[in-house]
Amino acid sequence: MKKDINWSNLGFGYFKTKYNVRTYWKNGEWGELEISSEETINIHIAASCLHYGQEAFEGLKVFKGKDGKARVFRWEENAKRLRSSADGIMMAKVPDELFKKALDTVVKLNKEYIPPYESGASLYVRPLLIGTGPRVGVKPADEYLFLMFVGPVGPYFKEGFKPVQIQLARDADRAAPLGTGNIKVGGNYAASLKSGERAHKEGFSSVLYVDAKEKKYIDECGPANFFAIKDNTYITPKSTSILPSITNKSLITIAEDMGMKTERRPIAIEELSTFDEAGACGTAAVISPIGRILDRDNNKEYIYCKDNNAGPISTKLYNKLRAIQYGDEPDKFNWVTILDV
Ligand code: PLP
Ligand code: COI
Repeated sequence: MKKDINWSNLGFGYFKTKYNVRTYWKNGEWGELEISSEETINIHIAASCLHYGQEAFEGLKVFKGKDGKARVFRWEENAKRLRSSADGIMMAKVPDELFKKALDTVVKLNKEYIPPYESGASLYVRPLLIGTGPRVGVKPADEYLFLMFVGPVGPYFKEGFKPVQIQLARDADRAAPLGTGNIKVGGNYAASLKSGERAHKEGFSSVLYVDAKEKKYIDECGPANFFAIKDNTYITPKSTSILPSITNKSLITIAEDMGMKTERRPIAIEELSTFDEAGACGTAAVISPIGRILDRDNNKEYIYCKDNNAGPISTKLYNKLRAIQYGDEPDKFNWVTILDV
């Protein structure tokens, strides 16, 4: 393990490691997986990813357990979602076997960067798929690049598992109802930058987006899904413009296993005042308890945490999820794959 890294103080950002892996799709097929120590790629000036946004990415994490084993959480779900993103913007699809080979290879080559169990940090894996074939007319490319890099990360929101403040804004949409919000393509994140940076400047961790069509329902929370707890029920939005979060899906299973009711349905903005707890969830965010939501348009605020601590149910869900990810608890849902590193 690398000795010169302060594992417990890592934020969420790019971290240079030794190797990444790449493979090119040409003439209708994927080539050999290549290992590289370059941090750059060389692509055509007319590549479709640069001009027309043919780009999709994923994010997954590898956790080192007390037993020293490296565990990856639900990688098949990320591989499947990457194919769904590829389908949505007409890119070549990465089969499970290639995704797994890239994952195994890149993690093994960078094993010294997997944070130790005690640090609470993890190794973030970033798969990226881009159109590299030249296009000036608007058309899907005929060549693609799939790559994977990794880096040790700490919490996405600097608060970690402490309440964050979120700003509800109606004057910006990250995705249209029948657009690309349900897939993980770069354009959605570009569309969120302006409102996201404004929220940061105004003192908030993230924006809570509402549905673009009616501006009535909760969509999602920056780079994470939204959930709320009310009367022992886990409630999360149903919307065509949010990313189907693997963390959220896992929390639904955990909540049901804990005897809670769960609901995936449209959540009207007014309902925010009725919740006992609220949170943002995702691979990077894990669970970020929401302490306060401020509705930017009418200054109405919703408070969920009074003493700067997460609520009891969010805490239980968080502990259970982390215990499964780090291998502290049996993997009863079969979510974890031990990597050979
Ligand atoms: N929503 C958005 C917009 C995201 O970028 C992410 C991160 O991947 C999520 C939700 C959470 O998804 P997951 O739990 O699969 O990481
Ligand atoms: C993740 O949670 O893995 C994400 O990809 C969010 C990201 C935009 C940082």
